[in-house]
Amino acid sequence: MARPYVILNAAMTLDGKIATVAGDSKISCDADLNRIHELRAGVDAVMIGVGTVLADNPSLTVRRARGKNPTRVIIDSQAKTPPDARVLDGSAKTILATTRRAPRQRIERLRSAGAKVITCGVGKVDLQKLLEKLYAQGVRKLLLEGGSTLNWGMLERGLVDEMRVAVAPHIVGGAAARTLVGGAGFDRVSQGVKLRLRGTRRVGEDLLLTYEVEGRGIVEKNR
Ligand SMILES: NC(=O)c1ccc[n+]([C@@H]2O[C@H](COP(=O)([O-])OP(=O)(O)OC[C@H]3O[C@@H](n4cnc5c(N)ncnc54)[C@H](OP(=O)(O)O)[C@@H]3O)[C@@H](O)[C@H]2O)c1
Repeated sequence: MARPYVILNAAMTLDGKIATVAGDSKISCDADLNRIHELRAGVDAVMIGVGTVLADNPSLTVRRARGKNPTRVIIDSQAKTPPDARVLDGSAKTILATTRRAPRQRIERLRSAGAKVITCGVGKVDLQKLLEKLYAQGVRKLLLEGGSTLNWGMLERGLVDEMRVAVAPHIVGGAAARTLVGGAGFDRVSQGVKLRLRGTRRVGEDLLLTYEVEGRGIVEKNR
């Protein structure tokens, strides 16, 4: 079944963290933030996990570039997104992908707050099925903006086509700090997701690395 082209974008410290132990995720430099907003303006939808909603309360809109706001997709099996979260501020369409595990009351509250609810899966959100549903609704290009657990869920299932990682010149340490990809992990390097380096460029003080996930074939030009 067809699914959207998926670009995973993240900002990471040199030691691989996407947030500090205390949850500070302001890692991108100014120029990189501009790049992210341009990237958002060029996709149909932007997707994050509920962990990122709860930690950062992002709006996921386009503010530093010209272009329209993409549809926001929140992966949230138990409908824990607060109804007053910025992703429900009405400035763009918001899809809440949840499961049959989610309490009906919370779903109704989020519907009232403006979310379009898609029930997809029993335990965790069935990401493959969700992408197929999004494709059927016209989403052709999707930007995955984390966090760590959702990045793993998408990569593990072979649902990422391209990665753009801005490496910031900071080291924050912390064994418990979220890394670019979390989850259960692979036992062997040979089982891992194989990437092909497609581009490197300086963005302000950060280094942008662009990778194609092997076997998928990049369609976007390095930006
Ligand atoms: N620097 C960056 O570029 C960047 C970008 C984004 C986020 N972040 C940071 O990342 C951290 C959040 O990451 P996180 O790992 O805690 O949370 P996350 O990846 O944003 O969300 C993960 C949650 O999504 C839900 N989920 C439902 N179905 C899933 C599936 N099939 N696969 C994976 N997840 C699924 C799960 O919660 P339920 O079971 O409750 O549904 C899971 O715990 C924050 O500190 C944030 O600041 C950094």
